[in-house]
Amino acid sequence: MPSRPRKMIPKKTVKKRPPALRAAITAVHGHLPQYVLNNHELAKLVDTTDAWIVERTGIRERRILKGEGLGTSHMGAEAVRGLLEKTKTAPGDIDLVICATTTPDFVFPSTANLICDMVGIRNIGSFDVQAACSGFIYAVTIASQFIETGKYNKIVVVGADKMSSIIDYTDRATCVLFGDAAGAVMLEPSTNRRGIIDSIISSDGAGMPFLHQKAGGSRMPPTAETVARRLHYVHQEGAQVYKFAVAKMAEVAGTLMERNKLSGEDIAWLVPHQANKRIIEATAGRMGLPMEQVMMTIHKFGNTTAATIPLCLWDYESKLKAGDKLILAAFGGGFTWAGMYVTWAYDGARAASAPPA
Ligand SMILES: CC(C)(COP(=O)(O)OP(=O)(O)OC[C@H]1O[C@@H](n2cnc3c(N)ncnc32)[C@H](O)[C@@H]1OP(=O)(O)O)[C@@H](O)C(=O)NCCC(=O)NCCS
Repeated sequence: MPSRPRKMIPKKTVKKRPPALRAAITAVHGHLPQYVLNNHELAKLVDTTDAWIVERTGIRERRILKGEGLGTSHMGAEAVRGLLEKTKTAPGDIDLVICATTTPDFVFPSTANLICDMVGIRNIGSFDVQAACSGFIYAVTIASQFIETGKYNKIVVVGADKMSSIIDYTDRATCVLFGDAAGAVMLEPSTNRRGIIDSIISSDGAGMPFLHQKAGGSRMPPTAETVARRLHYVHQEGAQVYKFAVAKMAEVAGTLMERNKLSGEDIAWLVPHQANKRIIEATAGRMGLPMEQVMMTIHKFGNTTAATIPLCLWDYESKLKAGDKLILAAFGGGFTWAGMYVTWAYDGARAASAPPA
């Protein structure tokens, strides 16, 4: 049987696949509690000195949330409120809220639920992500999937922690490191193909003994004894954490650069989790980046866990230009680590609202 002539499809009707959607950070805001706890005040609480803390960590002061009944959600809500105002977005236009935190107000409901209620966002999905200091990059990675598939158009990601609620102010090895704060970003589909280009999230549960809170979860629920034994605080073996933090932050940054064919010269900014100035310097050194291209807020805010990276973006917003290539890198308890390669989507100078000096 003669084969039927194949129907020719005129070339112009052949549908090209639409370009992949990218999720872009289109705005950033933050919240810092007013109370400033400086090293000199800490030196009155524990056997330490301003000189030791500055030399070993780079931290000079950190913010502490004071006030009866105020938890992480208070700071998160302030950051989101500011973000909505800045972007002139109605609460009803938000499709999803994700909050990265290690210090939720309650075991349940989630802090994201509480933040939504406080700012008047209703009837949408909201949930928390727990990945310690890597939580913000984890949460943005999750959020970006909903944008890339076309499901949602406006997602708010918050990184917020009230670390002072789980810090033992008699333990000099940990109490000098942490502070309280929140940062929030808006994620939207990119119209210019800028945005989140690549990301990595990773973990190794064998790191638990080196950085964790012993009691308060289902394994060791709170009792009078756990409180008396001071088990509801951050327990850290600093030297072990330090070693892994440098290795993993450098590794994740290196992998992102290699697989996206980036050299140090291509990168405008490294946005590292702010745990210790020496960890940040070592990471930048391994990437071949000068410190002028490294965002640094640790001296004034300390380690605010999930808030450090959005706080950096907020603090440096006026310096960011559309098209700048950024590498974000974080490491935290778990262990967890994460990285992200972002092409910045807008000129920050036009939108900037810097944190209070
Ligand atoms: C915590 C950290 C700053 C300690 O610095 P370090 O150089 O490793 O110091 P060490 O832990 O080796 O301690 C050295 C000495 O300083 C002492 N020390 C610890 N904290 C001190 C403080 N606040 N003031 C004065 N001395 C202190 C220790 O007791 C120890 O004394 P010893 O030698 O008599 O035992 C550092 O290990 C670190 O930053 N680790 C990573 C923390 C981190 O990133 N955590 C979050 C991960 S997201």
